[in-house]
Amino acid sequence: MSVDLSPFTSLDEFERHALEVLPAMPRDYYRSGAWAEVTLRENRAAWERLRIWYRVMRDVSDRSTRAEVMGRSAAMPVCVAPTALQRMAHPDGELATARASAAAGVPMILSSLSSTSVEDVRAAATAVDPAARTWMQMYIGRDRGMVRALAQRAHAAGCDALVLTVDTPTWGIRERDIRNHFRVPEGMRIVHLERPGGPTGHAGSGIHEALSWTIDASLTWRDFEWLRDSTPLPVLLKGVCRAEDAARGVELGAQGILVSNHGGRQLDGAPATVDALPHCVDAVAGRVPVLVDGGVRRGTDVLRALALGAQAVCVGRPILWGLATAGEPGVAKVLALLQHEFDVTLALAGCSGVDDATADLLRP
Ligand code: FNR
Ligand code: LAC
Repeated sequence: MSVDLSPFTSLDEFERHALEVLPAMPRDYYRSGAWAEVTLRENRAAWERLRIWYRVMRDVSDRSTRAEVMGRSAAMPVCVAPTALQRMAHPDGELATARASAAAGVPMILSSLSSTSVEDVRAAATAVDPAARTWMQMYIGRDRGMVRALAQRAHAAGCDALVLTVDTPTWGIRERDIRNHFRVPEGMRIVHLERPGGPTGHAGSGIHEALSWTIDASLTWRDFEWLRDSTPLPVLLKGVCRAEDAARGVELGAQGILVSNHGGRQLDGAPATVDALPHCVDAVAGRVPVLVDGGVRRGTDVLRALALGAQAVCVGRPILWGLATAGEPGVAKVLALLQHEFDVTLALAGCSGVDDATADLLRP
């Protein structure tokens, strides 16, 4: 039975509905932050604190949400953030996300812990739009051969960037997952990174046991240099908080910096990404694009991010809520709502397009 999406007027409504319909294990895995979830809450609250000093009488009758994102034009300055195991939300999983984001004209970042292969995701996306963009998110696990093979696969499948996640020397502790004995459901596979020596279905409690082999606590900048040299694709760094790390990444060849705290799922007590963003923007000094994610739920947040110097935002959980609600049409509606809200925000703030979304909107 398909859900009537007409009453869904905001991303928050998708969240409310998804939390009702999802079984406890995926629901809690998706919604959780680490420990007391201070950073999870703060990510959201920090956007809401920023006041927008709108301009008036600017003729905004002819306006556009289009934006350059990592060197190419997108329908809006929004990307789909990588989230693991999307088939727990809906049987179509990553395929639905790929189709909806291709139709919406925004890049999709595919999690390396996806439940669908990068080849299948690329086929779904390019069937909708041959120019669809997919970026492959990477973890560097202890088995570097596996990592290199995945980087090659992503390139061969037509991904146009890698996104190396650097905020996971170990997994953050999400207490609901421990209580639920989180494990990869029966019949679902982490297709790119199978647990050495067996399927992923029967791991113990919590994400530590379920996904321990996919990351490596010994990572340093040298491992980033290794990945950079193992691929012809541009590599973005995801999970940066501090200015010095953003600068270091750029000096070592990162083609983009994604300011992120993993949606509050790693170090609880880390600053909201809104608060980290200006430091990173200053440190990067225009050398490469800076993107940001965490708590982006409104078109107003997109404008706020641009005014703080980001080129684009990424959205994580709202995509999962759209999937859980209605599969591909659900994700499509989430993205359409965000675009509509951003368009109305531009108009009300006196902007005709993203170039008008400048710093003075927040600091007159
Ligand atoms: C994530 N995130 C994530 N990041 C990553 O680099 N690789 C991954 O596999 C995942 N998996 C994942 C699963 C789930 C359920 C969530 C909620 C998040 C982090 C994600 O890319 C992004 O940084 C945050 O989700 C952004 O915050 P919002 O938009 O969810 O508030
Ligand atoms: C998570 C991992 C998979 O946040 O990134 O659950």
